[in-house]
Amino acid sequence: MSRDGGLHVAIIMDGNGRWAKRRGLPRTLGHREGVKALRRTVEGAPDIGVSTLTVFGFSTENWRRPMTEVSELMNLLKAYVESDLDRLAREGVKVTILGRRTGLRPDILEIIERAERRTENNTRFRLQVAFNYGGQADLVDAARKFAEAVARGEARPEDLDEQLFESHLSTAGVPTPDVIVRTSGERRISNFLLWECAYAELVFQDVYWPDYGPDHLAAAVGEFRSRERRYGGVTTDDVLATG
Ligand code: IPE
Ligand code: IPE
Ligand code: MG
Repeated sequence: MSRDGGLHVAIIMDGNGRWAKRRGLPRTLGHREGVKALRRTVEGAPDIGVSTLTVFGFSTENWRRPMTEVSELMNLLKAYVESDLDRLAREGVKVTILGRRTGLRPDILEIIERAERRTENNTRFRLQVAFNYGGQADLVDAARKFAEAVARGEARPEDLDEQLFESHLSTAGVPTPDVIVRTSGERRISNFLLWECAYAELVFQDVYWPDYGPDHLAAAVGEFRSRERRYGGVTTDDVLATG
């Protein structure tokens, strides 16, 4: 739950390729439609009680795809920021990009930095785009940062606890997701938010990402609200029953 009481929903936007294949279209067209779905979903999120949206746009493993598809995904991130940044900035959206910066094209780095700089003081809504992101890579990077602090004599191994470790992750300072949604029918985490998923509710929706929109997000939030989060404890009823 975010500070303002809104929910944090994280989405593995999956199924662009299958959406296109089903229509006899190239995969890249599925990705283009996926951008439209992202736009609709961001637009509708505040009315559904969501104040932070984290979306998985490109994983550290997606480099294994054909070069043409990889460069299309890079170009789409750029096109999305170029077309939507003014509106996002005006609407009070704080945009951050999670993931490794090394290995990204200079024009992509430039657009990422522009989006973050332009929206850094916004507070109404938070949009985190995981791009060249891998949960394992993020954990390794956090461990490395801490080890470097130790090597510099600025920290001691015995200082390390969950809170300190978390402060080195790329999601530091942002409450962990309440819900992690995966579209397309796949039921796996695919290296997304490995630390942050600890107590997230997982919701799987059988819809290809290009068909997604606010109604699907509302359904995911509805499913979340019907769940009971226990964080390892017991329910109030159980406490009363057992005394
Ligand atoms: C999700 O759709 C977008 C990215 C992973 C970048 P996919 O491209 O994975 O679509 P499917 O899973 O092949 O249908
Ligand atoms: C996860 O989806 C990554 C993104 C949605 C960006 P993938 O489609 O890459 O995951 P796998 O290969 O099915 O596990
Ligand atoms: Mg996929």
